[in-house]
Amino acid sequence: MNLCVVGLQWGDEGKGKVVDILAEKADVVCRYGGGANAGHTVIIGDTRFALHLMPSGAVRPKTVCVIANGVVVDPAVLLEEIAGLEEKGLTLNGRFHISHCAHVVLDYHKLEDQLRENALGEGKIGTTARGIGPCYADKTGRSYALRMADLLDLATLKPKLQNIIDYKNKLFTALYNVAPIQFNTIYQKCMEYHKKLAPYVCNTTEFLHTAIEQGKTILFEGAQGSLLDIDHGTFPFVTSSNSSALGLGPGCGVPPQKVQRFIGVVKAYTTRVGSGPFPSEQNNTIGQRIRDKGHEYGTTTGRPRRCGWFDAVVVRYSAVISGINEIAMMHLDTLSGLDELKICNTYEIDGKKTSFFPADAGQLAKVKCIYQTVPGWQEDLTNIERFEDLPKAAQQYVKTAEQIIGVPIKMVGIGPRRTQIIYR
Ligand code: GDP
Ligand code: IMO
Ligand code: MG
Repeated sequence: MNLCVVGLQWGDEGKGKVVDILAEKADVVCRYGGGANAGHTVIIGDTRFALHLMPSGAVRPKTVCVIANGVVVDPAVLLEEIAGLEEKGLTLNGRFHISHCAHVVLDYHKLEDQLRENALGEGKIGTTARGIGPCYADKTGRSYALRMADLLDLATLKPKLQNIIDYKNKLFTALYNVAPIQFNTIYQKCMEYHKKLAPYVCNTTEFLHTAIEQGKTILFEGAQGSLLDIDHGTFPFVTSSNSSALGLGPGCGVPPQKVQRFIGVVKAYTTRVGSGPFPSEQNNTIGQRIRDKGHEYGTTTGRPRRCGWFDAVVVRYSAVISGINEIAMMHLDTLSGLDELKICNTYEIDGKKTSFFPADAGQLAKVKCIYQTVPGWQEDLTNIERFEDLPKAAQQYVKTAEQIIGVPIKMVGIGPRRTQIIYR
């Protein structure tokens, strides 16, 4: 039984926590997309882990972790993360594999990310500045890309890197008038990455298929959210990968037929970081109230997250494209204390009603949300253990959302800790 966990909104739904819980019964946890733009939080006792590249399974000492080919790997972040885990007594020797086909994020990608964003001014995407877009662009552009396998091949690394840096310097000086980047600095870093990461690099597609043949359980950990998907999200305010579950096959070489459970994670409301359309956004005291109570500040960049009502049009759409069979709804506890709550169930565009999400910027700019208003509850939920013990209004809220989405909500989050989860 293999599983895939993906975000069904604009990221930060609580995937890290859900993966950590489900990893108890998995042998392998595999990241298949995105890069260090992700920030997945796992809280165990008094220890808080904020993982950017390492799969959330890393916090369990025996779980095997895989970074597959679809991930763009920033070796500096990865090495820092490995060191941080080892400091907490979690060694990765023998239980961590990185794909030889994964592309490498280097300093010039991060510089390009910042330069492009600065040049866009008001129209910027609001990226995490982790070099994600430029690295995926180099991947699809092919000629100036570097993969983990290239880092290992010392005979060809130097001329390959020299060629890339010559090209990038021509581009940077012509377009942005900045000082050229130094080949030697980057080459020296690559030599260090080579030395430290070589033991982990392998053919992860082969590794995953062998594990499947042996009957092992693999948990595929999505990054970002389905609405940030380059093809199916709110383009151009998206990330540069297929961050819905559709990215699974290309991202790790395992077809979806091998995955039995697709679990979509949502928050009981909606958040988004960075620019772009957000129909149910509450840029008012309600939004601020959710931000304060839910501690809605980015795990990677610390930016305040934009907050709004639960948008069931968004979730129904992302559940459909990702082939979701069950939902985990996090942060129900954050909604305690509001007199009434709203769930968006329909959009109105140019006077016409639709319940199918239009993934187009022009149409989204015109969306008016039609809301269903439901009663709130005052009680604190954080110590409740059974669904039946939740206040009636909280139960009803979950059931209403479930009914509109059309997919069962099987897990409900009532706090950030591993134990703060209710199963239905
Ligand atoms: P991810 O990117 O999807 O892994 O999510 P993040 O870790 O970026 O953000 C989710 C935040 O919500 C983290 O700070 C979690 O500790 C926290 N969290 C997760 N589930 C719950 C929940 O049910 N209730 C509350 N209050 N916090 C939660
Ligand atoms: P996790 O895995 C929330 C957003 C950025 C920006 C857009 C493009 O923690 O859910 P990028 O750096 O990818 O080019 O930025 O995507 N973004 C995320 N928002 N959670 C994430 O990851 C995100 N990863 C990227 O804020 O709007
Ligand atoms: Mg996050």
